[in-house]
Parts: sequence; structure tokens; C-alpha cells
Amino acid sequence: MFSPSSSFGSTNDNGVSRKFIDLLVEAINGEATAIGFYAEILTQVHGDQVAYDNVKHAYDDERKHFRQFSRLYMKLTGQEPRVRPKRVAYGSLREAYRLAFFDELEAQELYNKMYLMAKDRKIRDIFYGARNDESEHSQRFQYLYHREERK
Ligand SMILES: [Fe+2]
Ligand SMILES: [Fe+2]
Repeated sequence: MFSPSSSFGSTNDNGVSRKFIDLLVEAINGEATAIGFYAEILTQVHGDQVAYDNVKHAYDDERKHFRQFSRLYMKLTGQEPRVRPKRVAYGSLREAYRLAFFDELEAQELYNKMYLMAKDRKIRDIFYGARNDESEHSQRFQYLYHREERK
């Protein structure tokens, strides 16, 4: 553990840099944004079980990531993260799936970077798991996008 005021140098006791903390804030906000985005999609696909199940799977994972990342942030900084989710605007479900697909790719890239930056085994495991989840989500959204196209 370290105190944020005294040891926010290049690295702290956990081998985590200031840059890593900044990326963690970005990750937390990305997860919060995805939770709101997918919750909105879920309200629109109640009659479509395939769409509902796939989006719900991603939604549940994002909630898990949000909890894991927030806990990690509190452990590393001793503070609660300031969460600022963005509203994702879309005109059609097809557009929503396309946006979600690219968001998932961005998240994979970010978590891959954070995995490589982290030295601590437990922190690495969190980002390894999250990266794999996002990889799976991107495939689910790609499937839904093409499925929507054929309707
Ligand atoms: Fe996620
Ligand atoms: Fe995801």
C-alpha cells in the first residue's frame, strides 16, 4: 500500500506507475459507459432472445470488470474513483452493435497494454481476464451486427 500524496512518483510499492493509474481511470469510465450503453440496448431487444442473451452476457461481464477495476483503484490510491460515464448515441440497433463492436476492440487494446505494464501477478490476471472477455464480446456484437443486417 502507498499513500497517494507521498509516493505518486514513477512507480509505487505495487510496481504501478502514475500512467497506469490514469489508464485505470479510463478503463473504469469505459466500463461505466458500456454498462449504460448495453442497458439501453437491453430495453430494446426484449422480444429477441438471441440478441438479449448476447448483450446481457456482455453487460454482466462489464459490471464484473467495473467492480474489479474500482476495487483495484481503491486499493492502489486509497480513494474512490470518480466515475464519468458517457452517453452513447445511436440511431438503430445495427448502428449500436457496430459502435459496441469497435468499443470492444478499443477495450481489448487498452487492457492488453495494461496487462503488459503491470508487474503484479494479481493485477495482470485481472487484465488478462478482462481482455479475453472483451475479445468474446466483440465477436458477439459482430454476430449481432450481421444478423441485424439480414433482417
Ligand atoms: Fe469490460
Ligand atoms: Fe466488453
